[in-house]
Amino acid sequence: MEAYKKLLNNNKEWASAQIKEDPEYFARLAKLQSPEILWIGCSDSRVPADRITGTHPGEIFVHRNISNMVVPTDLNLLSVLQFAVEILKVRHVIVCGHQNCGGIAAAMSNKSFGLMDQWVWNIKNVYRIHRDEIDACTSEEEKRSLLTKLNVKEQVMNLAKTSIIQKAWKQRQLPHLHGWVYDVRDGIINPVFEMTAGTEVDPIFEISNI
Ligand code: CO
Repeated sequence: MEAYKKLLNNNKEWASAQIKEDPEYFARLAKLQSPEILWIGCSDSRVPADRITGTHPGEIFVHRNISNMVVPTDLNLLSVLQFAVEILKVRHVIVCGHQNCGGIAAAMSNKSFGLMDQWVWNIKNVYRIHRDEIDACTSEEEKRSLLTKLNVKEQVMNLAKTSIIQKAWKQRQLPHLHGWVYDVRDGIINPVFEMTAGTEVDPIFEISNI
């Protein structure tokens, strides 16, 4: 059977199992969503946000792209962030990177991968900021692992640079920002960085008139 057909069959089984367990399940969910969490993760098929966190439909609002980047010109990311923070009023934003990330490996190589080089450029900029620390690692695996962690940290700091987050911090002292790294080798998520609401932002990026 072709892979996509299996998905449709699985879906039918899942939907009927849900109804058997809780007849009001879909009726309730159809009315509204009120997730408390926005998840910004990698598109990698091995890092499904809900499966690895044991969450259910309705619990997390999700945005995924290559290497979980927060790029300030990305209208898609910014729209998701604005909707999540200002309308859904999420309490937490999680940036979750992962070990063995293809985008991280691409950023550390000198090969061209076509159009996506423009995206990887953003990851290379993170490498450039932390070049000394990363290059001091002895193995390639350690280097990639460190860039993965530092990239998550930089993306959390990028969130704090946005007017969306700075405005929300001023108005309602939320959301808190979290940087996590998921290890595809053992299934464990390790928190690596955190900015609770109101944490000082780099003065260069502080917006005084919001
Ligand atoms: Co990845």
